[in-house]
Amino acid sequence: MMINSENTPLIHRSDYQPLAYRITEIALDVHLDPENTEVSARLHFLRQNPEPVKEIHLDGEGLELLEIRRDGQLLSENSYVVNGAGLTLLNPEADFVLETRVRIHPAANSALSGLYHAGGQFLTQCEAEGFRRITYYQDRPDCLAKFTVTLHGPKDTCPVLLANGNCVAQGEDAQGFHWARWEDPYPKPAYLFAMVGGDLAAMRDTFTTQSGRQVALEIYVAERDLGACSQAMESLKRAMRWDEEVYGREYDLDRYMIVATDSFNMGAMENKGLNIFNSKYVLASPETATDTDYQGIESVIAHEYFHNWTGNRVTLRDWFQLSLKEGLTVFRDQEFSADMNSRGVQRIGDVRRLRAAQFPEDAGPLAHPVRPDAYSEINNFYTATVYEKGAELVRMLHTLLGKEGFRRGTDLYFERHDGHAVTIEDFVEALEDANHTDLSRFRTWYAQAGTPLVKAQGVYDPKAHTYTLTLSQSTPATPGQAHKEPVPIPVRMALINTQGEKTALDSRGDREKVLVLEEATQTWTFTEQPDPVIPSLLRGFSAPVRLENPLDDQSRSFLACVDDDPFNRWESTQELALQALLAGTQNPGTVQHFPDALERALAATLQDGAMDPAFRAELLSLPSEDYVGEQMAVIAVDAIHQARDALLSQIGHHFHDTWLNLYHDLAGAYARDGLSIGRRRLRNMALSYLVYSDRHREDDMTLHARQQYVQADNMTDRLAAFQLLVQHPLHDAEDILMDFYQKWQDYPLVIDKWFAIQAMAPRADALRHVQHLLVHSAFDWKVPNRVRAVLGAFTVNHTVFHAADGSGYAFFAEQIRRLDDINPQTAARLATPLSRWQRYDEVRQKAMIQALQLLAAKPHLSRDLAEVIQRAYP
Ligand code: ARG
Ligand code: ZN
Repeated sequence: MMINSENTPLIHRSDYQPLAYRITEIALDVHLDPENTEVSARLHFLRQNPEPVKEIHLDGEGLELLEIRRDGQLLSENSYVVNGAGLTLLNPEADFVLETRVRIHPAANSALSGLYHAGGQFLTQCEAEGFRRITYYQDRPDCLAKFTVTLHGPKDTCPVLLANGNCVAQGEDAQGFHWARWEDPYPKPAYLFAMVGGDLAAMRDTFTTQSGRQVALEIYVAERDLGACSQAMESLKRAMRWDEEVYGREYDLDRYMIVATDSFNMGAMENKGLNIFNSKYVLASPETATDTDYQGIESVIAHEYFHNWTGNRVTLRDWFQLSLKEGLTVFRDQEFSADMNSRGVQRIGDVRRLRAAQFPEDAGPLAHPVRPDAYSEINNFYTATVYEKGAELVRMLHTLLGKEGFRRGTDLYFERHDGHAVTIEDFVEALEDANHTDLSRFRTWYAQAGTPLVKAQGVYDPKAHTYTLTLSQSTPATPGQAHKEPVPIPVRMALINTQGEKTALDSRGDREKVLVLEEATQTWTFTEQPDPVIPSLLRGFSAPVRLENPLDDQSRSFLACVDDDPFNRWESTQELALQALLAGTQNPGTVQHFPDALERALAATLQDGAMDPAFRAELLSLPSEDYVGEQMAVIAVDAIHQARDALLSQIGHHFHDTWLNLYHDLAGAYARDGLSIGRRRLRNMALSYLVYSDRHREDDMTLHARQQYVQADNMTDRLAAFQLLVQHPLHDAEDILMDFYQKWQDYPLVIDKWFAIQAMAPRADALRHVQHLLVHSAFDWKVPNRVRAVLGAFTVNHTVFHAADGSGYAFFAEQIRRLDDINPQTAARLATPLSRWQRYDEVRQKAMIQALQLLAAKPHLSRDLAEVIQRAYP
């Protein structure tokens, strides 16, 4: 596509060059002012090789250079060049000190990258390349320096001044101004730099490390939010303990600070000793946050904490290695959450997310390997592939090496590379060396994009008493990778006999095995199987693949009732529901057949009162519209929506009395333990099915929802009821919308939910309604959470976003155009659903391409958005 943008030049992994100069130390002096902030920097340069170099490039964007000195002397104009990309020093000496003074404009920084002023606070976001928007620097992760920062600010609006490390001095400046000096003893790349200035209150606590050191823990929020920090604080302490116990990793500074802001592009950022968080992942009280929000806080707090070792102490050589820290850290936070909560439910959630975000990415034009080969804008590569698939690769390594072997590997990794900027290759080598094993074939997983398809074929021989299993693999072509190699796929499996027991698979009596499928096709024979067996394959979702296991409904229903692997038990039910939904899309509008096998599986779960309610809720939920669409050659938007609605009503209707009993039986006082959370989840699911069941009955189940909305003493229950009332087409919910808004208007995170639920509601006038949301007084283009709440939610309102007349796409593209001038990173990310145009019918394809063209023609198109469009429609 013709892109109306300066350029989208590609940066290639193979072009990596080590630094000619190291910067050993950097001292920053910052005078905070919303309009005009001045930043003075003193950099110590050290040449790495004896030979002189012609020039050094320092990155810099949007900086106004006020002064520049080398070794104390003002630099003459002919010894440097400044342009839009930075500053080039000509004919530099072997070692020297460079001093610059620049002016920047934090209040005008709506991109939220670098130093910005939002909600009355000064904040920074430097990953990936934000530091160059603060001062001239070698802004790349392999440039490790010791940072000293002196912050100056007004005492009234910035009583709190924070940066990485330890506060070593503070004092008063002239009239109403003060300063604080921070020193970070650990050399770090600039992407881990942070500073904060604002009127913040702190929740304080301490943690004693395994070696007996006391660490001060501080969570900085607005004064009125102090009461909403305890989930974050408790999660932090649990994460610190867990990393000591499971990985032997101790925290290394005397304080650990977290700052929350409503204005943030991503979830959170692991800046050394000074994490900056989207307030969504810090603030929670029972009245304002759902159980899901509480869990999100636990996992993101842990994620950022775990980065202190996987990311900060051992960092990245270049951005192509991003998954080295992200994949590994996501794996670590998933395992932490599994240990803190229910392992089975956690795994199901992990896989749901992978399938919802990563599988589609891997199957479309934005597909890329976990370790990409080229990018134009690195911020576009903070993807589900780098994060979630990256975590799956680490999980497979864990499976292949075993728990102890994996730990030996990470111990060696930390020992070898502490304080260094390294590669994914270094990580794999440490695992190999610690285990005297060869992972050469495994490396293909990092280099190859696309989701492998595994086909299973099993034959039971009643005479020989053998079960023969043949597995084969293939990976579809992805952009730039036509030919694919086989990858080693760990397939955890068991054979289940007619009594529902796992049989012995070998003479040792093992009842579960990990088969490693390395070739295109392999066969395994299990002897001494006196009875017919059903294979339970890919237990725990042991590899990020699609599995075709041709079982009949009977066998699936059986596994759904007896399989002792929670993931596979869930998967069997999902598969039955998926088949029913796919069948439903064939004859939209007609009354569907509710398959017996699915009925039996659901009935078994509904009757099993002893089962963990959270797991029960998972077993009773239907695959999402997205997941159903993924399985179709052409995504039949409306038919899927209708089929899913119809099946929901049928399940609601068929088990109506059971749902009603569950709804009443599960009522209970609000508590935050796992069992209570599970009970709420299941109870709200019952309510949802009851509301859907209404279509077949006289009694009005939405009355229950109304009552729950009014009486709820917590946000989980209130929001569940609210969502049903807003979504359910039978009811006009204007009064409830108003009531909700009036109650929560001072709580931005709750108002985000209010916006999102409306933007997701498939009401008849949905597009007009979403247009109204954008002009609501509480809508703010500069706050990413708010923009995502409307535009992000709109893209999952399938029948409206994908309206056949193209109105959804056209509207959406116009908003993205507007957003691109304000916040390119968020605009580019929100635009990615348009890249999936190939999966829709011709009419929609045309409209989606038109929307992409509208974006491509935008003046001043950002590099972020340009790259997404370019790859979406090359
Ligand atoms: N490293 C952060 C995390 O995963 C994400 C920051 C990404 N920021 C960005 N601008 N791309 O914890
Ligand atoms: Zn991360």
